[in-house]
Amino acid sequence: MAQFSLPANSVVNPNGNVHKAPAGAKDVRSFSIYRFDPESKDKPRIDTYEVDMGSCGPMVLDALIKIKNEIDPSLTFRRSCREGICGSCAMNIDGVNTLACIKASAEIKGTVKIYPLPHMPVIKDLVPDLTNFYAQYASVKPWLQTRTPAPPDQERLQSKEDQEKIDRPSACILCACCSTSCPSYWWNSDKYLGPAALLAAYRWIIDTRDEATGERLDELEDPFRLYRCHTIMNCAEACPKDLNPARAIAEIKRKIAERKQ
Ligand code: SF4
Ligand code: SF4
Ligand code: FES
Repeated sequence: MAQFSLPANSVVNPNGNVHKAPAGAKDVRSFSIYRFDPESKDKPRIDTYEVDMGSCGPMVLDALIKIKNEIDPSLTFRRSCREGICGSCAMNIDGVNTLACIKASAEIKGTVKIYPLPHMPVIKDLVPDLTNFYAQYASVKPWLQTRTPAPPDQERLQSKEDQEKIDRPSACILCACCSTSCPSYWWNSDKYLGPAALLAAYRWIIDTRDEATGERLDELEDPFRLYRCHTIMNCAEACPKDLNPARAIAEIKRKIAERKQ
């Protein structure tokens, strides 16, 4: 798996606080966690927490929740579903962007190193600011656009085969693991839409009920919005839902090229 770099404000004090395991704990794992408090003047630091795994669930998110509940209530992170469907617990664990709730601590050798998603502004600790990411998603108009009236007596129908084509891209949970693993996105996230937003665009471009395909392609035909993708493929590797946004981006480029022929 590719190793990714630290967040934007990455001048980090590696010698933060160390929270020792309780006496008598037998199965102890160390978790080194990025800490940043915007209300403090201190630079970001790495705190280490020794966790008694004998009384902790198997996933990295279980350890984070245990740390917050029992050791340090100031530790801040997002989570909701705990089963890989809401996308909120995306973070960089052991050098890889993934979902903390489906990443087993046992899969990681040695100290578990946890950072926020790379190259995003950090709001606090493991919480990145995804404002730009969501704005880019909204910019591709991720909803059905029609130009003709709906049939009077039924919904707009689609064949089973056509529906199956949008199954996979529709499964995106907007976790941002892909975009924040993409070097092109790191350096141009103000102008390049990134793999998550482009996968969403693709989902609507190939929807046979949508009647704005040409406009959608026009919007994307831009040296930055689409063509900053250099097919580095980090995004396909990073996606915890195995959705391969790189392939979707290549398909968009192919569709734009085809209509010029
Ligand atoms: S394939 Fe494109 S979007 Fe995916 S990581 Fe590479 S440059 Fe980024
Ligand atoms: S494509 Fe995959 S990695 Fe990217 S936002 Fe969607 S679910 Fe997350
Ligand atoms: S908590 Fe929902 S994906 Fe991890």
